[in-house]
Amino acid sequence: MQAKRFCAGLLASVAVAAACAAADVQRIGATPQLAAMPAVAGPFAPSPARAALGRQAFFDPRLSEPAGTSCASCHDPRRAFSGNHGSRLGVPLGARADLVGLRNTPSALYVAYVPRLFFYQDDDALAATPFGGLFADGRADDVPDLVRHPLMNPLEMHNRSLADVARKLRAAPYADGLRREFGARALDTTAGALAALGKAMESFLQSREMAPFSSRYDAWVQGKAPLTALELRGLKLFKNPDKGNCASCHKFNETSSNPARSLFTDFGYDAIGVPRNRAIPATRDPAYFDTGLCATAAAATWPERAQWCGYFRTPGLRNVAVRERFMHNGAFSTLRDAVAFYATRGIEPERWYKDGVLFDDVPKAYRGNVNAATLPYNRRKGMQPALDDAEIDAIVAFLRTLTDAPWETRAP
Ligand code: HEC
Ligand code: HEC
Repeated sequence: MQAKRFCAGLLASVAVAAACAAADVQRIGATPQLAAMPAVAGPFAPSPARAALGRQAFFDPRLSEPAGTSCASCHDPRRAFSGNHGSRLGVPLGARADLVGLRNTPSALYVAYVPRLFFYQDDDALAATPFGGLFADGRADDVPDLVRHPLMNPLEMHNRSLADVARKLRAAPYADGLRREFGARALDTTAGALAALGKAMESFLQSREMAPFSSRYDAWVQGKAPLTALELRGLKLFKNPDKGNCASCHKFNETSSNPARSLFTDFGYDAIGVPRNRAIPATRDPAYFDTGLCATAAAATWPERAQWCGYFRTPGLRNVAVRERFMHNGAFSTLRDAVAFYATRGIEPERWYKDGVLFDDVPKAYRGNVNAATLPYNRRKGMQPALDDAEIDAIVAFLRTLTDAPWETRAP
C-alpha cells in the first residue's frame, strides 16, 4: 500500500513509471529501491507555450539579487549550457562579484533524461546502489524541486526569500503568459508562483533545443556520416573493459538508433578521487570538504551513509569537449587531463596531488571509499597504465564527436 502510493507520486517521471507499474518497491530512507532498472525516458513532448515561457525565465537576469545573473549566466548557451559565469576558478561567480560557488556548473542539456533518485541491485552486484537524482549529489528530485536551489543559494542567485522571487515573477514580462498557462491566480501565492516557474523551466529543459542529439556520433550511429579511424579507435578503447573501461559507467549503445540509449552515463555514483581544487575559496579552510552523496544520504536517513562520502553522480559526456572545466570541483581545465587522470592516477600520483596526499579532496576517514578496484584506475606505482598517451589521445578524439551541431565550430 505504502509502496503503491509512493509510486503514484513518481509516475510523473517517465523513467520510473514502467518499473513502478511492474515491481514491488521497497524503501531506503525516502528513496525507492526498484526491482528492475527503469527504461530510458523520453521522448518528451512539452507544451511549446510552456517551454517558451521557461526559456524566457531561464534567460531572465532579473531573477537574481542584485539583478544581472540569469540561469543562462552559468548555464551559458555558448558553452552548451555549461560555464562558470566568467570565473576562472573552476566554480561559478555568483550574483555578487564577491561570491563564488562550490561546484563546477554542469550542462543543462539532456537534464530531462536524469531519472529520480532510486536504488537498484544488479544481478551480480553485492548490494543495491543509488542512481539518478539532479545535482552531483542527487539531492533534487525534479526540475520544479530544483529551481529554488540556485535562486536561493547565497553563492548563486542570492535571493533573500522565495517571496521576493515570487514578486519578481509577478512583475516579469512573461507573468501574463504564466497565468495563461497555469491559471489566473497561479502567481498569487509564493508557492503557486514557484510551482509555475518550476513547471515552465521543466518544459524548457524537456524541449528539443535542450536535447538536440545532433552530434557527429549521432550521425554515425544512424549511418549518415563516418567517424575517422582515430575516433573509432577511441570508441573501442572507451568501451573495452581491459582498456579504458569507460563505458562501464559512461554507458552508451552504438547499435541502437535511439540516441537516448547513448547518454554516456548510467546515472550511477562513484568516488574517483579527483584532486582538490585549491582555487575554490572555501578550500582555504582545511576542514572544508565536499563529500557529495553522503550529504544526501544523511538527509534521507539511508543506513550506513558514510560509505557514500566522496561519491558523485557520473555525468553524461555529450558536449564534454565544450566544457570550460571538468569534474564536480572543476579541478581540470583540459579534457585531455580529465582522461589522462584516469590512466595515471595511481601510477603518477604526484602529477595530480600537489601535496603528495592521495585523494586529497576526500576527508581522510573516507579515502577508502575511492574506487581503486576497477579499470582503468586499479594501478599503482611501477605498473603499466591502462592507457598510453596515444590511446588517451584517441579517447579524447572520440569524446569530441559527442559535440552537438550548434557547438561543433566552437569546441576548443
Ligand atoms: C551561479 C551559477 C549558476 C546559476 C545562476 C544557476 N546554476 Fe544551475 N547549476 C550550477 C551549479 C554549480 C550546479 C551543480 C550544483 C550541484 O551539483 O550541487 C548546477 C546544477 C543545475 C542543474 C542540475 C544538472 C544535473 O545534471 O544534475 C540544473 C537542472 C540547473 N542547474 C538548472 C538551473 C536553473 C533552472 C537555473 C536558474 C533558475 C540555474 N541552474 C542557475 C550553477 C548555476
Ligand atoms: C566507475 C565509474 C567510472 C568509470 C569507469 C569512468 N568514469 Fe568518468 N566519471 C565518473 C564519475 C563518477 C565522474 C564525476 C567525478 C567527479 O566529478 O568527481 C566522472 C567524470 C568524467 C569526466 C568529466 C566530465 C565533466 O563533465 O566534468 C570525464 C571527461 C570522464 N569522466 C571521462 C571518462 C573516461 C574517458 C573514462 C575511461 C578512461 C571514464 N570516464 C571512466 C565515473 C566513471
